[in-house]
Amino acid sequence: MRKVFLSYNPPTIGDDERAEVLDTLNSPWVTTGPKTKAFEAALQDYLHAPAVVALNSCTAGLHVGLVALGVGPGDEVIVPSMTFCATANVVEHVGARPVLVDVCPDTLTLSPDAVQAAITPRTKALLPVHYAGHPVQMDELDVLAERHGLAILEDAAHAISSRYKGRLVGSRPNLAAFSFYATKNLTTVEGGCLTGEPALVEKSRIIGHHGMNRDAWKRFDRSGSWYYEVVLPGFKYNMTDMQASIGLQQLKRLGAFQRRRREVVARYEAGLGDLAALELPVERPWAESSWHLYVIRLRAGALRIDRNTFIEELKARNIGTSVHYLPVHMHPFYRDKYGYRPEDLPVSADAYQRMLSLPLHAGLTDGDVDDVIQAVRELVLANPA
Ligand SMILES: Cc1ncc(COP(=O)(O)O)c(C=O)c1O
Repeated sequence: MRKVFLSYNPPTIGDDERAEVLDTLNSPWVTTGPKTKAFEAALQDYLHAPAVVALNSCTAGLHVGLVALGVGPGDEVIVPSMTFCATANVVEHVGARPVLVDVCPDTLTLSPDAVQAAITPRTKALLPVHYAGHPVQMDELDVLAERHGLAILEDAAHAISSRYKGRLVGSRPNLAAFSFYATKNLTTVEGGCLTGEPALVEKSRIIGHHGMNRDAWKRFDRSGSWYYEVVLPGFKYNMTDMQASIGLQQLKRLGAFQRRRREVVARYEAGLGDLAALELPVERPWAESSWHLYVIRLRAGALRIDRNTFIEELKARNIGTSVHYLPVHMHPFYRDKYGYRPEDLPVSADAYQRMLSLPLHAGLTDGDVDDVIQAVRELVLANPA
């Protein structure tokens, strides 16, 4: 059995990140400034994005994105239930209603059929989530958005380097929000960004910085002026140069991180693919996943232990796992406010009961992956129904 506990997704931080942070700490400017600008430019280049604003989280990006799109009280926004709570919370923050819908059984991404069924005259926007890094069916959503005059705001928290039909997520003109939270494929410890066409992104930048019409750092360098005006009551969502320092170095390593993630996924597939009791994650033919998460599902009725016991048994074997996610419609706030029952969104509710996320990060060795495979195989083979 494995001797040391294996975390399911710690960050991969190296000497280059440490040196860049120190360089910033030793400079006269540590919050939003030249490094944030450089990180935005590097992200724009990497993502082929029309424009980028760096922010202090993906949640901030989703929030300012909704404000920039003019979503507010009386509006509805269609959100998949199989997501992190922030995707729905931001809709509540702007006073609109998140209309929770079900996901596709294979990829657990927003189902275009479910979206179509949920559109009403009040629908203002679609908020698809590239769940686990697998891209959403954007063509189908574009048709619906066009037909009904809806905005699209992508939750790309998991999707840096994901491609839909060859095109990078984040390269489209509609807004997309990325996360650089500690567990993400690229981290700035906490952080995020918003991509999209320049006018919307610049509006979002102002909304995310107090509604001020000038960047603070420009006010304090030689080229700047002390004068600014507030054009709307904005939020304090700017990224700091400390965070951007980490991001600049992480972005240089992202290609290598992604190659390693794919190798790990291939090793899991080779090591677990023959177990009929497990449902492994899929990549549709037109999709390139960022493989942010490796979510397996226990097939209903195949084992005599349930998902929770499976997780406990893996923990006892020093393998860390997690669950992504308790569907939003099953959280008490949403359940009680809107009267959802679990079975209202059966794919999400069923997947939740059977899912767990295995360790997946760029720092895993082949030995680590083999330890996970061995522990999972042992459990499956010892517990047939
Ligand atoms: C799908 C999804 N959306 C939004 C977020 C929020 O990201 P952040 O923590 O950067 O605000 C997360 C974070 O885990 C997420 O997984």
